[in-house]
Amino acid sequence: MSAQRQNNARGSRRTNRGPRTDVSKTAVIDIRNITKTYQMGQLELRVLKGVSVKIFEGEFVSIMGPSGSGKSTLMNILGALDTPSSGKFLLDGVDVSKLSENELASIRNKKIGFVFQNFNLLKRTEALRQVELPLVYSGIRNRSRLAKAALESVGLGQRLDHLPSELSGGQQQRVAIARALVNSPSVILADEPTGNLDSRSGTEVMQIFQRLNREDGITTVFVTHDPWIARHTKRVIMLRDGKIVADQRVKEPLVAGEAERPSEAEELQGIFDETYYGGDENEYT
Ligand SMILES: Nc1ncnc2c1ncn2[C@@H]1O[C@H](COP(=O)(O)OP(=O)(O)OP(=O)(O)O)[C@@H](O)[C@H]1O
Ligand SMILES: [Mg+2]
Repeated sequence: MSAQRQNNARGSRRTNRGPRTDVSKTAVIDIRNITKTYQMGQLELRVLKGVSVKIFEGEFVSIMGPSGSGKSTLMNILGALDTPSSGKFLLDGVDVSKLSENELASIRNKKIGFVFQNFNLLKRTEALRQVELPLVYSGIRNRSRLAKAALESVGLGQRLDHLPSELSGGQQQRVAIARALVNSPSVILADEPTGNLDSRSGTEVMQIFQRLNREDGITTVFVTHDPWIARHTKRVIMLRDGKIVADQRVKEPLVAGEAERPSEAEELQGIFDETYYGGDENEYT
């Protein structure tokens, strides 16, 4: 049994397993006219220029866009790792800007699981201990049992005492996913989680995300440059120059590991048939 399901069995609020389209329900993520401006000496760098989006429980969303379009900036705001310059961010209905530092840290730990492109694991810490850490901050008991279940759910039950240097890239990313989901977050945010992986490890990681979304109903948002990966999600949002330029459902999301990756040209065509915004396709790869 996965850590997620164990937590559900202990009375977690998550019961809905499919994508939720009923707009009367509270969005897990609701951002309204978010902007982010960096001050660089005399210069103002406007990175997000009014981004509004609602993401409901059970959705599986990918964010695409050219390098520098503001994807990581947006993800860091969604993950409460950074604050917007203006606009509103409601996380599970709670206005994040009204929270104190402590409340924010607590919400981040409980509600959000973050997965990074470069895994962000502690170098000298064994897999089990890495996954236990978020539970330490939450003051939860039964830590090693829950951490072990999370690692087993990503296929790493046999690697509990391995250091990151004793794991492959794909395995390290799976430890990071286990760490992100061990607290039963409302949402998993991943910034290019397959960006540093070969295609086989990337497929394994996608299989895990798809299973977490399908079976445990975990809302998932991730950034990818890879149209093929994006086609495995249910909704694609395209950012360009700090604005959303397209936001579309994927008609028939692919199942990871089932379909053969097509040639690069076909791959691009598949996604741009649906979401092409009229700019240069090369910008998106
Ligand atoms: N802390 C910062 N201070 C100043 N400028 C920043 C900061 N962080 C990001 N930027 C700028 O904001 C813009 C958007 O950066 P961001 O990392 O969000 O892009 P991205 O879409 O994730 O790109 P990539 O696909 O290359 O990861 C870039 O032009 C970047 O230089
Ligand atoms: Mg980025």
